[in-house]
Amino acid sequence: MTPQYEVSTDQARFDVGLIHGFLSSTYWAANMPRKVLEKSIRHALCFGVFADGKQVAFARVITDYATFAYLSDLFVVPDHRGRGVSKLLMRSILDHPELQGLRRFVLATKDAHGLYAQFGFKPLSNPEDFMTIHNPDVYKQASNT
Ligand SMILES: CC(C)(COP(=O)(O)OP(=O)(O)OC[C@H]1O[C@@H](n2cnc3c(N)ncnc32)[C@H](O)[C@@H]1OP(=O)(O)O)[C@@H](O)C(=O)NCCC(=O)NCCS
Repeated sequence: MTPQYEVSTDQARFDVGLIHGFLSSTYWAANMPRKVLEKSIRHALCFGVFADGKQVAFARVITDYATFAYLSDLFVVPDHRGRGVSKLLMRSILDHPELQGLRRFVLATKDAHGLYAQFGFKPLSNPEDFMTIHNPDVYKQASNT
């Protein structure tokens, strides 16, 4: 039976162990130290999805609450995939009252374009205008605590 899912931005409810366990094993945040994750949550608008009080999904929106937002670190735990949880999360993010009227909302994904396209995200029309400083090995030397 599909459980009732509840979305919350109350960071006191987040299961940081679960979030760290998942993210530190992903290709995009491999070996991220827990302290870095905790700081990144504190300074962002984060969303959790809960089933029977247990966290089953997470996403982080880095934003100035006025003009710009970057969607990051979205995942659903394997046991709850394929049930519309990421779509519930995306709808909650885009409907959030503090994320209205933004000039730009950006994300990066390797293979979930089809998910985000359902919510209006499109490939960059002018990728040559964007620049980045990218250090994918930033956590290699850090201790993973
Ligand atoms: C990608 C992920 C968040 C999808 O979560 P989910 O709750 O299982 O997805 P949903 O049931 O809400 O459905 C997702 C929808 O997007 C579509 N989709 C497009 N690309 C997808 C992908 N790579 N993985 C899963 N669904 C994808 C699905 O077909 C589905 O559309 P439909 O309902 O119209 O058929 C989940 O598989 C996950 O956490 N994966 C590992 C982490 C990850 O890759 N995160 C995204 C990084 S950008």
